[in-house]
Amino acid sequence: MTLRHFLRDDDLTPDEQREVLDRALALKADPFSDRCLEGPQTVSILFDKQTLRTQVSFVGAVSGLGGFPMVVDGRLAGVGVREPVADVARILGRQSAAVVWRTFEQAKLEEMAEYAGVPVVNALTDDFHPCQTLADLLTVRELLGDLAGRTLAYVGDGANNMAHSYLLASATAGVHVRVGAPPSHQPSAAVVARAEEIAARTGASVLVTDDAVTAVRGADVVATDTWVSMGQEEESDTRHGTDGPFEPFRVDEALMAQAADHAVFLHCLPAYRGHEVTSAVIDGPRSHVWQEAENRLHAQKALLSWLLEHSEVSA
Ligand code: NVA
Repeated sequence: MTLRHFLRDDDLTPDEQREVLDRALALKADPFSDRCLEGPQTVSILFDKQTLRTQVSFVGAVSGLGGFPMVVDGRLAGVGVREPVADVARILGRQSAAVVWRTFEQAKLEEMAEYAGVPVVNALTDDFHPCQTLADLLTVRELLGDLAGRTLAYVGDGANNMAHSYLLASATAGVHVRVGAPPSHQPSAAVVARAEEIAARTGASVLVTDDAVTAVRGADVVATDTWVSMGQEEESDTRHGTDGPFEPFRVDEALMAQAADHAVFLHCLPAYRGHEVTSAVIDGPRSHVWQEAENRLHAQKALLSWLLEHSEVSA
């Protein structure tokens, strides 16, 4: 039995990532041309953390494919708390064509994938946010054309899920990826090593620096994310303080001026204007964050369709 999951960005090979992005472009142009969930088949979508874009885009994606999006509030379900992840996985897998889960630990998502018997999709964990980076690559492709050989700079919290996903997804796409982050918040060494391994095969490169200008200089894409991820709220004061570690990494017009003339700005949202990005940048002409947010829908639709097509689910 072949079963394909999307738990982290490198679950898709470079060719497979390209196929998913091609499919996303086709579905964006012709939204109801793929009815792979016709029935309607249920897709279970669980949230243990806050959500807006992810809920709306997965509900839209499943509905658009002809299926029924069953949204489960994690506080009610208590996955891994009220009952073991493995039990929940077997229950959901028998009644769903796929399971989509936003949670904290990556290990729990892996456990869900081990027992569900259907494709499992990471809708954000503490470690990765691979659906967002798929949407980002789609956006860059629309804006700048071919991805291979482009340079993407991510600045801010280098230790969070977005930084890790940019490293893996960009390297997979043949995109040179740079992370600019304070020494206290650098990416996981294991993720950097994995990105370098992928980059060696795709012609990409990986640079991790503690200097924002070094990261952004000449880049085609500049991206950032909140300095306080979900689950880190208690650290908000130290992370946001004026003498906090991220102050030199704010994306303002001066930092954007270091990027290529045609550079575009991306942010997974929610954005905290005045902290990781200024209003002049995120609300300015180089920002494409609304197109990026819309592309969650198209990318996830393509991803679900692709995973189902490449999985043989036992009855
Ligand atoms: N790093 C952020 C991403 C939000 C979409 C978080 O985990 O809260």
